[in-house]
Amino acid sequence: MARQTILNKTMNNEMPNNEIIASDISTEDYNTICNKVLDYILSFTNEDETTQKNFILKREHTNRVTGYSEVLSRNLGIEQDDVLTAQLIALMHDIGRFNQLEQYNTFNDSQSEDHAQMALDIIREKRWINNLPDHVQEYIIKAIYYHNKLFVPKNENEKTVLHSRIIRDADKIDILDIAIKEYQKKPGDRNDKFTLELEEKPQTTKNIVKAVINGKLPDKKNLKTVNDFKLMQMAYVYDINYKKTFSIINQKQYLKQLFDSLPKNDDVFEAYRKTKIHVENQLI
Ligand SMILES: [Fe+2]
Repeated sequence: MARQTILNKTMNNEMPNNEIIASDISTEDYNTICNKVLDYILSFTNEDETTQKNFILKREHTNRVTGYSEVLSRNLGIEQDDVLTAQLIALMHDIGRFNQLEQYNTFNDSQSEDHAQMALDIIREKRWINNLPDHVQEYIIKAIYYHNKLFVPKNENEKTVLHSRIIRDADKIDILDIAIKEYQKKPGDRNDKFTLELEEKPQTTKNIVKAVINGKLPDKKNLKTVNDFKLMQMAYVYDINYKKTFSIINQKQYLKQLFDSLPKNDDVFEAYRKTKIHVENQLI
Protein backbone atom coordinates (compact mmCIF):
# COMPACT_ATOMS: atom_id res chain seq x y z
CA MET A 1 0.00 0.00 0.00
CA ALA A 2 1.77 3.18 1.11
CA ARG A 3 5.13 1.50 0.61
CA GLN A 4 4.25 0.10 -2.78
CA THR A 5 2.71 3.38 -3.95
CA ILE A 6 5.74 5.45 -3.02
CA LEU A 7 8.17 2.89 -4.40
CA ASN A 8 6.30 2.53 -7.69
CA LYS A 9 6.06 6.26 -7.99
CA THR A 10 9.66 7.01 -7.16
CA MET A 11 11.02 4.17 -9.29
CA ASN A 12 8.88 5.15 -12.26
CA ASN A 13 9.91 8.75 -11.97
CA GLU A 14 13.49 7.93 -11.62
CA MET A 15 14.05 5.57 -14.50
CA PRO A 16 11.44 6.12 -17.18
CA ASN A 17 13.42 4.10 -19.74
CA ASN A 18 15.65 2.15 -17.41
CA GLU A 19 18.30 4.81 -17.96
CA ILE A 20 20.23 6.43 -15.15
CA ILE A 21 19.60 10.13 -15.58
CA ALA A 22 20.68 11.48 -12.22
CA SER A 23 24.36 12.05 -11.72
CA ASP A 24 24.78 13.04 -8.08
CA ILE A 25 22.24 10.54 -6.78
CA SER A 26 22.67 6.96 -7.96
CA THR A 27 19.68 4.75 -8.59
CA GLU A 28 20.95 2.30 -6.01
CA ASP A 29 21.33 4.93 -3.29
CA TYR A 30 17.96 6.44 -4.08
CA ASN A 31 16.14 3.10 -3.92
CA THR A 32 18.01 2.03 -0.79
CA ILE A 33 16.98 5.22 1.02
CA CYS A 34 13.34 4.82 -0.07
CA ASN A 35 13.28 1.21 1.12
CA LYS A 36 14.84 2.00 4.49
CA VAL A 37 12.58 4.96 5.15
CA LEU A 38 9.49 2.99 4.15
CA ASP A 39 10.50 0.07 6.38
CA TYR A 40 10.85 2.54 9.23
CA ILE A 41 7.45 4.14 8.53
CA LEU A 42 5.71 0.76 8.31
CA SER A 43 7.31 -0.39 11.58
CA PHE A 44 4.96 1.94 13.48
CA THR A 45 1.75 0.16 14.41
CA ASN A 46 -0.43 0.50 17.47
CA GLU A 47 -3.33 -1.44 18.95
CA ASP A 48 -5.05 1.80 19.86
CA GLU A 49 -7.39 2.60 16.98
CA THR A 50 -6.88 6.38 17.09
CA THR A 51 -3.09 6.10 17.20
CA GLN A 52 -3.10 3.61 14.32
CA LYS A 53 -5.33 5.97 12.30
CA ASN A 54 -2.85 8.77 12.89
CA PHE A 55 0.10 6.61 11.83
CA ILE A 56 -1.80 5.88 8.60
CA LEU A 57 -2.68 9.58 8.23
CA LYS A 58 1.05 10.44 8.31
CA ARG A 59 2.01 7.59 5.97
CA GLU A 60 -0.53 8.77 3.42
CA HIS A 61 0.45 12.42 3.93
CA THR A 62 4.08 11.45 3.22
CA ASN A 63 3.01 9.67 0.06
CA ARG A 64 0.94 12.56 -1.27
CA VAL A 65 3.51 15.22 -0.36
CA THR A 66 6.10 13.20 -2.28
CA GLY A 67 3.76 13.34 -5.27
CA TYR A 68 3.14 17.08 -4.93
CA SER A 69 6.89 17.72 -4.60
CA GLU A 70 7.41 15.90 -7.87
CA VAL A 71 4.62 17.87 -9.58
CA LEU A 72 6.08 21.19 -8.39
CA SER A 73 9.68 20.21 -9.22
CA ARG A 74 8.81 19.08 -12.72
CA ASN A 75 6.73 22.20 -13.24
CA LEU A 76 9.75 24.30 -12.29
CA GLY A 77 11.83 22.46 -14.88
CA ILE A 78 14.68 21.80 -12.45
CA GLU A 79 17.28 19.15 -13.11
CA GLN A 80 16.66 15.48 -12.36
CA ASP A 81 18.97 15.42 -9.32
CA ASP A 82 16.91 18.18 -7.79
CA VAL A 83 13.64 16.39 -8.55
CA LEU A 84 15.00 13.32 -6.74
CA THR A 85 16.31 15.46 -3.89
CA ALA A 86 12.88 17.09 -3.55
CA GLN A 87 11.26 13.65 -3.41
CA LEU A 88 13.69 12.41 -0.76
CA ILE A 89 13.01 15.53 1.29
CA ALA A 90 9.26 14.91 1.03
CA LEU A 91 9.69 11.26 1.95
CA MET A 92 11.53 12.17 5.18
CA HIS A 93 10.10 15.59 6.06
CA ASP A 94 7.62 14.23 8.62
CA ILE A 95 9.58 11.15 9.68
CA GLY A 96 9.68 12.63 13.21
CA ARG A 97 5.88 12.50 13.45
CA PHE A 98 5.80 8.74 14.09
CA ASN A 99 8.08 8.93 17.11
CA GLN A 100 6.35 12.10 18.27
CA LEU A 101 2.95 10.39 18.30
CA GLU A 102 4.29 7.22 19.93
CA GLN A 103 6.29 9.05 22.57
CA TYR A 104 4.10 12.07 23.36
CA ASN A 105 0.68 11.12 21.89
CA THR A 106 0.42 14.49 20.16
CA PHE A 107 1.30 16.30 16.92
CA ASN A 108 1.61 19.55 18.84
CA ASP A 109 5.28 20.57 18.76
CA SER A 110 4.86 23.06 21.63
CA GLN A 111 3.69 20.22 23.88
CA SER A 112 6.41 17.82 22.76
CA GLU A 113 9.40 18.57 20.49
CA ASP A 114 9.99 20.25 17.14
CA HIS A 115 9.08 17.39 14.77
CA ALA A 116 11.52 18.67 12.10
CA GLN A 117 14.39 18.40 14.57
CA MET A 118 13.12 14.94 15.56
CA ALA A 119 13.28 13.98 11.86
CA LEU A 120 16.89 15.14 11.61
CA ASP A 121 17.84 13.17 14.73
CA ILE A 122 16.35 10.01 13.20
CA ILE A 123 18.03 10.59 9.82
CA ARG A 124 21.38 11.06 11.55
CA GLU A 125 20.94 8.04 13.80
CA LYS A 126 19.81 5.76 10.94
CA ARG A 127 22.50 7.08 8.56
CA TRP A 128 20.01 6.89 5.68
CA ILE A 129 21.56 9.66 3.59
CA ASN A 130 25.23 9.22 4.47
CA ASN A 131 26.12 7.83 1.01
CA LEU A 132 24.82 10.92 -0.79
CA PRO A 133 27.20 13.75 -1.77
CA ASP A 134 27.70 16.33 1.01
CA HIS A 135 25.87 19.12 -0.79
CA VAL A 136 22.78 16.92 -1.35
CA GLN A 137 22.83 15.91 2.34
CA GLU A 138 22.96 19.58 3.24
CA TYR A 139 19.90 20.45 1.09
CA ILE A 140 17.94 17.56 2.57
CA ILE A 141 18.82 18.40 6.18
CA LYS A 142 18.18 22.12 5.84
CA ALA A 143 14.95 21.82 3.84
CA ILE A 144 13.53 19.38 6.39
CA TYR A 145 14.58 21.68 9.22
CA TYR A 146 12.95 24.69 7.52
CA HIS A 147 9.79 22.89 6.38
CA ASN A 148 7.84 23.81 9.51
CA LYS A 149 9.53 27.08 10.52
CA LEU A 150 7.80 30.44 10.27
CA PHE A 151 10.10 31.44 7.40
CA VAL A 152 13.21 30.38 5.47
CA PRO A 153 16.20 32.67 6.15
CA LYS A 154 16.99 34.84 3.13
CA ASN A 155 20.74 34.34 3.48
CA GLU A 156 20.55 30.59 2.82
CA ASN A 157 22.14 29.24 -0.39
CA GLU A 158 20.00 29.12 -3.53
CA LYS A 159 19.43 25.35 -3.60
CA THR A 160 18.51 25.20 0.08
CA VAL A 161 15.95 27.94 -0.52
CA LEU A 162 14.62 26.10 -3.59
CA HIS A 163 14.17 22.81 -1.73
CA SER A 164 12.73 24.49 1.35
CA ARG A 165 10.19 26.26 -0.86
CA ILE A 166 9.17 23.10 -2.67
CA ILE A 167 8.57 21.11 0.52
CA ARG A 168 6.75 24.01 2.20
CA ASP A 169 4.38 24.36 -0.77
CA ALA A 170 3.83 20.61 -1.24
CA ASP A 171 3.22 20.13 2.48
CA LYS A 172 0.68 22.96 2.62
CA ILE A 173 -1.34 21.62 -0.31
CA ASP A 174 -1.80 18.30 1.45
CA ILE A 175 -2.44 19.84 4.89
CA LEU A 176 -5.19 21.95 3.32
CA ASP A 177 -6.64 18.86 1.71
CA ILE A 178 -6.64 16.91 4.99
CA ALA A 179 -8.04 19.95 6.82
CA ILE A 180 -11.02 20.39 4.52
CA LYS A 181 -11.94 16.70 4.84
CA GLU A 182 -11.52 16.95 8.61
CA TYR A 183 -13.82 19.97 9.00
CA GLN A 184 -16.52 18.26 6.94
CA LYS A 185 -16.71 15.39 9.47
CA LYS A 186 -19.33 15.28 12.22
CA PRO A 187 -17.96 16.65 15.55
CA GLY A 188 -17.72 13.17 17.15
CA ASP A 189 -15.71 11.77 14.22
CA ARG A 190 -13.07 14.51 14.17
CA ASN A 191 -9.39 13.89 14.77
CA ASP A 192 -8.30 16.17 17.61
CA LYS A 193 -4.64 15.26 17.04
CA PHE A 194 -4.80 16.92 13.62
CA THR A 195 -6.26 20.08 15.17
CA LEU A 196 -3.54 19.97 17.86
CA GLU A 197 -6.10 19.36 20.65
CA LEU A 198 -7.19 22.99 20.33
CA GLU A 199 -10.53 24.05 21.82
CA GLU A 200 -13.63 23.52 19.67
CA LYS A 201 -15.44 26.75 20.41
CA PRO A 202 -16.81 29.60 18.24
CA GLN A 203 -14.19 32.20 19.25
CA THR A 204 -11.20 33.36 17.24
CA THR A 205 -8.16 34.99 18.86
CA LYS A 206 -7.53 38.69 18.14
CA ASN A 207 -3.83 38.48 17.26
CA ILE A 208 -4.46 35.55 14.91
CA VAL A 209 -7.21 37.48 13.05
CA LYS A 210 -5.00 40.57 12.97
CA ALA A 211 -2.09 38.67 11.43
CA VAL A 212 -4.28 37.12 8.71
CA ILE A 213 -5.91 40.44 7.82
CA ASN A 214 -2.46 42.07 7.68
CA GLY A 215 -1.17 39.50 5.21
CA LYS A 216 0.93 37.53 7.69
CA LEU A 217 1.14 33.87 8.60
CA PRO A 218 0.26 33.62 12.34
CA ASP A 219 2.63 31.83 14.67
CA LYS A 220 1.32 28.36 15.56
CA LYS A 221 2.29 29.02 19.19
CA ASN A 222 -0.49 31.62 19.50
CA LEU A 223 -3.32 29.33 18.38
CA LYS A 224 -6.05 28.80 20.96
CA THR A 225 -9.10 27.45 19.12
CA VAL A 226 -9.78 25.21 16.12
CA ASN A 227 -11.13 28.33 14.40
CA ASP A 228 -7.73 29.99 14.89
CA PHE A 229 -6.22 26.92 13.26
CA LYS A 230 -8.56 27.33 10.27
CA LEU A 231 -7.62 31.02 9.96
CA MET A 232 -3.94 30.09 10.05
CA GLN A 233 -4.60 27.64 7.23
CA MET A 234 -6.27 30.43 5.22
CA ALA A 235 -3.09 32.46 5.78
CA TYR A 236 -0.98 29.66 4.28
CA VAL A 237 -1.54 31.49 0.98
CA TYR A 238 0.83 34.24 2.18
CA ASP A 239 3.56 31.65 2.44
CA ILE A 240 3.16 29.99 -0.96
CA ASN A 241 6.07 30.25 -3.36
CA TYR A 242 4.97 28.94 -6.73
CA LYS A 243 2.25 29.83 -9.20
CA LYS A 244 1.50 26.13 -9.72
CA THR A 245 0.68 25.84 -5.99
CA PHE A 246 -1.61 28.89 -6.16
CA SER A 247 -3.34 27.36 -9.11
CA ILE A 248 -3.91 24.05 -7.24
CA ILE A 249 -5.23 25.97 -4.19
CA ASN A 250 -7.54 27.97 -6.42
CA GLN A 251 -8.73 24.96 -8.38
CA LYS A 252 -9.50 22.96 -5.23
CA GLN A 253 -11.27 25.94 -3.61
CA TYR A 254 -9.55 25.45 -0.27
CA LEU A 255 -10.15 29.03 0.91
CA LYS A 256 -13.86 28.88 0.19
CA GLN A 257 -14.14 25.55 2.01
CA LEU A 258 -12.25 26.87 5.04
CA PHE A 259 -14.51 29.93 5.03
CA ASP A 260 -17.60 27.68 4.87
CA SER A 261 -16.41 25.81 7.96
CA LEU A 262 -15.97 29.02 10.04
CA PRO A 263 -18.59 31.05 11.97
CA LYS A 264 -19.65 34.08 9.96
CA ASN A 265 -18.54 37.39 11.49
CA ASP A 266 -16.69 40.52 10.29
CA ASP A 267 -13.27 39.11 11.18
CA VAL A 268 -13.84 35.91 9.25
CA PHE A 269 -15.27 37.75 6.22
CA GLU A 270 -12.27 40.08 6.16
CA ALA A 271 -9.77 37.22 6.53
CA TYR A 272 -11.45 35.37 3.65
CA ARG A 273 -11.57 38.50 1.49
CA LYS A 274 -7.88 39.33 2.02
CA THR A 275 -6.60 35.79 1.44
CA LYS A 276 -8.83 35.32 -1.63
CA ILE A 277 -7.57 38.57 -3.18
CA HIS A 278 -4.00 37.46 -2.49
CA VAL A 279 -4.51 34.20 -4.42
CA GLU A 280 -6.29 35.95 -7.29
CA ASN A 281 -3.45 38.49 -7.59
CA GLN A 282 -0.90 35.70 -7.88
CA LEU A 283 -2.78 34.11 -10.75
CA ILE A 284 -3.04 37.18 -12.97
FE1 LIG B 1 5.77 18.59 9.11
